[in-house]
Amino acid sequence: MNIRQATVADIPGMQNANLMNLPENYVLRYYLYHALTWPQASYVATDASGTKIVGYVLAKMEEDPADGIPHGHVTSLSVMRTYRRMGLAGKLMELSLRSMYECYGAQYVSLHVRRSNRAALHLYRDTLKFDVKDIEKAYYGDGEDAYAMNKDLNKLE
Ligand code: ACO
Repeated sequence: MNIRQATVADIPGMQNANLMNLPENYVLRYYLYHALTWPQASYVATDASGTKIVGYVLAKMEEDPADGIPHGHVTSLSVMRTYRRMGLAGKLMELSLRSMYECYGAQYVSLHVRRSNRAALHLYRDTLKFDVKDIEKAYYGDGEDAYAMNKDLNKLE
């Protein structure tokens, strides 16, 4: 397995993994917007051949933060089923968070996760030490609530 920064050429593979793993899907233009505007924020994991994308983190900076504090946002993270529980998501997240801090000056990073998503909650809260900031009622299209989570990046040093 190999983990590296995502490029525009990786977008079809990222989009494929996203469609396989999550109900929240995005148009091509939204991936391009991430990759072209914040090229250092998103990462991919590939199989041993280096060609098949088996995991990705798609991340960005908030362009007009309501609190005036520069911060990043993890739009989407997923790992293909047969490659789970090997530490890939944790590694993808660590690299993305560090890049957002070092390259774009993010002071913290935010994300949303479904209340029922035990695996992702474990990853964010217990492994990566995100804090639950809020519960957003019916955030998702099917009516499920989201945990809005933040991680202070100043503690990365
Ligand atoms: N149940 C409990 N804990 C779990 C599970 C699980 N099913 N899966 C992983 N974990 C824990 C691991 O044990 C590990 O904990 P540790 O550091 O204490 O050992 C931690 O989470 C990280 O494990 P990784 O191996 O890095 O995670 P993995 O590569 O398996 O990916 C992910 C986790 C991304 C949540 C994966 O299960 C997945 O793709 N799920 C479907 C898509 C998804 O839910 N994405 C997140 C949506 S939220 C968003 O995109 C912002």
